[in-house]
Amino acid sequence: MQIGIVKEGPEEARVAATPATVATLRRLGYDVVVEAGAGERSSAPDAEYREAGAAIVPAAEAWASDVVLKIAAPTAAEIDALADGATLVALLSPALRPDLLEALAQRGITALALDAVPRISRAQSMDVLSSMANIAGYRAVVEAAHEFGRFFTGQVTAAGKVPPAKVLVAGAGVAGLAAIGAASSLGAIVRATDPRPEVADQVSSIGGTYLAVDVEVEKSTDGYAKATSEDYDRRAAEIYTEQAADVDIIITTALIPGRPAPRLITAADVARMRPGSVIVDMAAAQGGNVEGSVAGERVVTDNGVVILGYTDLASRLSAQASQLYGTNVANLVALLTPGKDGVLTIDVDDIVQRSVTVVHDGAVTWPPPPVQVAAAPAAAAPAVVEAQPQPERKRMSAGRRIGLIVLGIAALFAVNAVAPAPLPQHFTVLVLSVVIGFYVIGKVHHALHTPLMSVTNAISGVIVVGAMLQIMNPDPVVQVLAAIAVLVASINIFGGFAVTRRMLAMFTKGGEK
Ligand code: NAI
Repeated sequence: MQIGIVKEGPEEARVAATPATVATLRRLGYDVVVEAGAGERSSAPDAEYREAGAAIVPAAEAWASDVVLKIAAPTAAEIDALADGATLVALLSPALRPDLLEALAQRGITALALDAVPRISRAQSMDVLSSMANIAGYRAVVEAAHEFGRFFTGQVTAAGKVPPAKVLVAGAGVAGLAAIGAASSLGAIVRATDPRPEVADQVSSIGGTYLAVDVEVEKSTDGYAKATSEDYDRRAAEIYTEQAADVDIIITTALIPGRPAPRLITAADVARMRPGSVIVDMAAAQGGNVEGSVAGERVVTDNGVVILGYTDLASRLSAQASQLYGTNVANLVALLTPGKDGVLTIDVDDIVQRSVTVVHDGAVTWPPPPVQVAAAPAAAAPAVVEAQPQPERKRMSAGRRIGLIVLGIAALFAVNAVAPAPLPQHFTVLVLSVVIGFYVIGKVHHALHTPLMSVTNAISGVIVVGAMLQIMNPDPVVQVLAAIAVLVASINIFGGFAVTRRMLAMFTKGGEK
C-alpha cells in the first residue's frame, strides 16, 4: 500500500512524518510519497525524505494514496481529493465535529482520529495529545519568557541583585507539569494548583511548590479531575487573587475532559498584576481559564499585562512536535500492520484500534465503547507504592552498611601497617577528607551548591595560619610577603561569606523561603 504525507495549511507548521519516521514506515513494507515542501517548516527538506526512501510528488498524487497521514482535520476540498476507500489518519476532534465524520463517511473513507487514542499505558506510544501537550507546556514558558522583560532566574550582578521571577501554573496535568519543569529549570520560583492532590509529589519533584486548596474534592477514579465544588472554587479563587498580586507569570492549563474550560483568573485578578506581567491561557481554544483572553491572540490589558491565548503552541516548536507526532503515528501504523507487509488492517476487537476508528468503510463508528482508564486514582496510590519496593532497593540494609564500614577501617589499618612513613598519615587524611566531604556536600541541596562553593573560600584560613607563623620571621621580605598573604586570604574569606549571604538572601523574601 502507498502512504501519502501531505502538506498542511498555512496555519500549521508541523508535518505528520519526518524523514526518520518515513524510514520506519518503509520498514513496515509501505511505499511512501511526500508532497513537495511538506516538511519545509519543520526543518525537514525534500532531499532528506528522498534519502529516507520516499518519493517527492505533487499534492494530488500524495492525496490519492491508500493511506493519508495528516495533522489538522481536512477541508471539504481535501476530502474530495482522497481516493475512494482511502484511510485518513489525523486530529479529527470527533466529539466536536460530527459534520466532518459525516462528510468522510459519505466518501466511503476510513478515518482514524489520533486525538481519540485512549490514555491507557499500552497506547502511550501513540498518544499524540500527551506528546503535544508536553511540547505546548514547554513552549508556553518560552513564550512567557519572551514577553517578560526580566530574567527568570535570580542573579547577583555587579550592577545589583535580580530577584527570581515567580510563576504560577494552574492545572498540573501533562501541559502543566511540562510548564512547571521548564519554568523551574530556567530558575524561576514556581507554584502550582490542581484539584487532584495526588499531583503534589509530581509538582515538587520537578521543582514546583504545590498550593493545596484545603477543601475536600471528589476523588478521581480515572486519573482525570472531577468537576470542582462551589466551596473548592471559592477557596481556589482566593488563592488566585492572592497569587495574582505576587507572581509575574501565570500559565493556565486547567481542563476537565468534556467540559468548557473552568474560569480561574478573573479580570479583577489580572488588574492586580504588575505591569509587564504575562499570562499564557493554554485553554483559550476551549473558552479560556482567564477572563479577557482571546483564542489565538496576544492581548495587552490597560494595566500592561500581556495575555497570550495562542492555540498553536506545539506548532511553534514544529521540528520537535513533528518528530514526536510522526513517531506516534508510526507506532499506530505499526500496530495496524501486524505482518509488516505494507497492508493496513484494523482489528475492531482491539480497544486501541477501535477507539481511534471514528469512521469505518463509510460508517460513522464514533463514539467507541468506554475504555476503563487505569491512571492511578488517589485511593489506589498508596497500595501501589507499598507493593513496589523501589525505595527499599536503593537503601542499603543497616547490617550491610556496618559491615562495609568495618571492612573500610580494617583496610585502612592494613595499609597503615605495611606502608612506609609518611604515607599512612597522608592516606588517613585523604580518607577522612573524602568521608567528611561526602557527608557535608551530600546533605546540601544542589540549588545551594554555589553559595556553598563561595563559603568554602574559608579554606583560605589555612593560608592565614601559615602566613601568621611566618610573620615573626627575621627576614623583612618574608614578613612583607606574609602580611600580603594574610590580607589577600582575609579578603577571600570575608568576600566569600558576603557573596554567600547575598545569594541566600535571594531565596528569602518577606518571611517566605
Ligand atoms: P490534562 O487533562 O492532562 O490536564 C488538565 C489539568 O487541569 C488536570 O490535571 C486537571 O486536574 C486540572 N484541572 C481541572 N480543573 C481544574 C481547576 N478548576 N483548577 C485547576 N486545575 C484544574 O490536559 P493537558 O493535556 O495537560 O492539556 C491542558 C490544556 O492545554 C488543555 O486545555 C489543552 O487543550 C491545552 N493545550 C493547548 C495547546 C495550545 O497550543 N494552546 C496545545 C496542547 C494542549
